[in-house]
Amino acid sequence: MTTNIATQTVQIGLDWDTRTGAVTVPIYQTATFRHPGLGQSTGYDYTRSGNPTRQSLEEGMARLDNGCRGFAYATGMAAITSLLLLFRQGDHIVVTKDLYGGTYRLFDRVLRPYGLDFSFVDTTRLEDVQSGLRPNTRMLWLETPSNPLLRVSDISALAEIAHHYSSQPLVVVDNTFATPYLQRPLELGADLVVHSTTKYLGGHSDVVGGAIVAREETWHERLAFLQNAVGAVPGPMDCFLILRGIKTLPIRMQRHAENAAAIARFLGDHPRVKSVYYPFHATHPQVKLARRQMFSGGGMLSFTVKGGASEAQHVAESTHLFALAESLGGVESLIEVPAAMTHASTAHSPLAVSTDLIRLSVGIENLDDLLADLAQALG
Ligand SMILES: Cc1ncc(COP(=O)(O)O)c(C=O)c1O
Repeated sequence: MTTNIATQTVQIGLDWDTRTGAVTVPIYQTATFRHPGLGQSTGYDYTRSGNPTRQSLEEGMARLDNGCRGFAYATGMAAITSLLLLFRQGDHIVVTKDLYGGTYRLFDRVLRPYGLDFSFVDTTRLEDVQSGLRPNTRMLWLETPSNPLLRVSDISALAEIAHHYSSQPLVVVDNTFATPYLQRPLELGADLVVHSTTKYLGGHSDVVGGAIVAREETWHERLAFLQNAVGAVPGPMDCFLILRGIKTLPIRMQRHAENAAAIARFLGDHPRVKSVYYPFHATHPQVKLARRQMFSGGGMLSFTVKGGASEAQHVAESTHLFALAESLGGVESLIEVPAAMTHASTAHSPLAVSTDLIRLSVGIENLDDLLADLAQALG
């Protein structure tokens, strides 16, 4: 039966345990599985290779993203690292220029020395991507909306460009900010989608995790091989926590987006704010595309303040409800200064973030309380 994503998320794992009928997926907290006989298997041999709780999460993720296979990892970075091992020395990768600092660090400081070549381009400009492709380009890495400037890249137009290019680079979208509830990259032509499940999918800031979902079966064997060979897999308890978080994803995302859109309007009118970055905000340069490509603007927004870095620090240290912390996507509101925190690794690089930029992960608390907190912090 075809169901809406709001039904799929709640029903995730519901039919898993046919033996007892448990309505949630049991936590199979075991490292290994007894074999019925030599050369025989229950389908599970060793938890790095496969575990029922993880399998339930992987199947659920594949369904939510409308892909054919899902793979779960210990963190978002573990997912990204495992995916990048698909490539070989000399391969070239085109990457969104506005990017999570940890992804930039992995690409630039870990994988570049191993012989992968990266070009960081403004993927909101189709012509820049087109001219950035080379005969050895093997992947187009899109982060949309991007971290921390919430830039929006046109997934279907870029997939079209990539798939018609001679080297047919893979199109991969980091969908962490949007989640499958707001944006469906595989339906727009992407080949693989990546998530930090630490964020909105887990949703409660109590677990770290990552996932890859593939559109086509062709990727299954290679990704499954790498997942087992590299071993960056999540434990069963972590898979359970992410499964539990997913059940309330749609309702949380709706509230995150309502609050964030209202806060974007409030900040847009505030005399001490220079600019606001929110995909569905009227001043956003790709607002039309965002409204076409995403179901809502999501819960993340950034803004710059008058008074420079010291004022940004003052605001970030003055909120009471918005906790000064890295990460995002939990039910609670967080505030941070990317240049000093999540994006410190981009300092002195072409990807460096402005020091007066503040990023908010808008939670699902009462909107008036959040607005009052920001109002007092901005003075
Ligand atoms: C867009 C994006 N991708 C990937 C990651 C990495 O995820 P993790 O922290 O789970 O390793 C993050 C972390 O903040 C992120 O914001």
